Amino acid sequence: MKVETVGVVGLGTMGHQIALVFAQAGFSTIVCEETAERLERGMAQISTFLARRAEKGKLTKAEADQALARIQPTTTLADIAAADLVVEAVFEDIEAKRALFTELDRICKPEAILATNTSTLSVTEIAAATTRPGRCLGTHFLIPAALSPLVELSRGLETSDETLEAVVEALKRCGKETVLSQDSPAFIINRLYIPLLNEAFWALQEGVATAEEIDRACVKGLGHPLGPLAASDASGLDVVLDCVESLHAQLGDKYRPAPLLVKLVKAGRLGRKTKRGVYSYP
Ligand SMILES: NC(=O)c1ccc[n+]([C@@H]2O[C@H](COP(=O)([O-])OP(=O)(O)OC[C@H]3O[C@@H](n4cnc5c(N)ncnc54)[C@H](O)[C@@H]3O)[C@@H](O)[C@H]2O)c1
Repeated sequence: MKVETVGVVGLGTMGHQIALVFAQAGFSTIVCEETAERLERGMAQISTFLARRAEKGKLTKAEADQALARIQPTTTLADIAAADLVVEAVFEDIEAKRALFTELDRICKPEAILATNTSTLSVTEIAAATTRPGRCLGTHFLIPAALSPLVELSRGLETSDETLEAVVEALKRCGKETVLSQDSPAFIINRLYIPLLNEAFWALQEGVATAEEIDRACVKGLGHPLGPLAASDASGLDVVLDCVESLHAQLGDKYRPAPLLVKLVKAGRLGRKTKRGVYSYP
């Protein structure tokens, strides 16, 4: 099946970027949030991103306007019914994702593909909440999705070849390369990367170095675009902690969350989105 219309559920850090990927590539894009306030915030982030890209000369004003015009915002999940592909980007919580997939399965046309942006959870378990596990898969977009060249696909136990092919083709139209992982906790990228983020919090709390030095070591020494602590602030410390806890639950004690990470989340210091995480963003 050829994908023409895409639905994105959840318009937070990832969802608004995923919507940008598809809208800029010419797909008609329906975006759904739980509340009008969050929908408005997500749409404002989309507009700001497009305006900045136009200012920088990365796209014309007309292209930015056209991309924005392709996005149809809603707070009614049933409006997603027209989509050929739905990408879910809600909280990293297995019950929330399963409940949403059951609902999407009821709402969407039988041939529609349902994708999850989960970072660490089982695609097979999420797909099992539907009557179409063959048409479900993981599409793990990386932050910032609108700029990252890669999407990590993961195949649930029942994911069909046709489903994978249709999604690879749609992502190619978006200019994205894909890698394929089996359905294993955190797939390839986060299996390697989340422990690095967690370890950076252990190192910081043990006084190995300052936050700035830890980040600078990874940027200059390892060639990372952002150091692990700054990257955690960008992703959201709550989101990082959810991922570490999920790895801990699935793979054992080696992945125990750093107490400092837990403490910062308890304090409400979630990173850029709350203007304070490891660093401050006045
Ligand atoms: N933040 C990252 O760096 C990152 C990177 C890759 C993947 N992910 C994954 O992407 C997913 C989303 O993460 P995020 O960082 O964007 O989270 P987020 O908290 O920024 O956004 C989630 C959004 O989903 C909305 N939502 C929740 N339930 C909903 C529902 N039933 N219908 C509509 N909207 C709903 C919330 O209102 C919220 O705005 C998670 O599974 C996460 O693990 C995150």
